[in-house]
Amino acid sequence: MFDFVTVATVEEIPPGTGKTVEVRGIWIALFNVAGTFFAVDNTCPHAGGPLGEGHLTDEVVECPWHGWQFNVRTGERPGNPNFTVACCPVRIEGNLVQVALPEGFK
Ligand code: FES
Repeated sequence: MFDFVTVATVEEIPPGTGKTVEVRGIWIALFNVAGTFFAVDNTCPHAGGPLGEGHLTDEVVECPWHGWQFNVRTGERPGNPNFTVACCPVRIEGNLVQVALPEGFK
């Protein structure tokens, strides 16, 4: 059972955008892909860039530091499965966006 934490309202993150939020002391990148929300570890595995500040195109975010891309639905780096970011469960309660950290996250 996940312990969900409210991190934003739906209105704060319009479709096609993202935001960095904190869940129990850990920074998470939260994205709205055409009305569906996804959450991944905010820390880029290349050199620690903030994925929540990256540009989102469809399901793919581009790290603002050096351009590595990650699918925010799966956490995978397109074309290079050796690098992934961890994904978190997201749910919507009314207009609240809630995120949970899976057991052993990070
Ligand atoms: S830190 Fe993300 S691409 Fe380099």
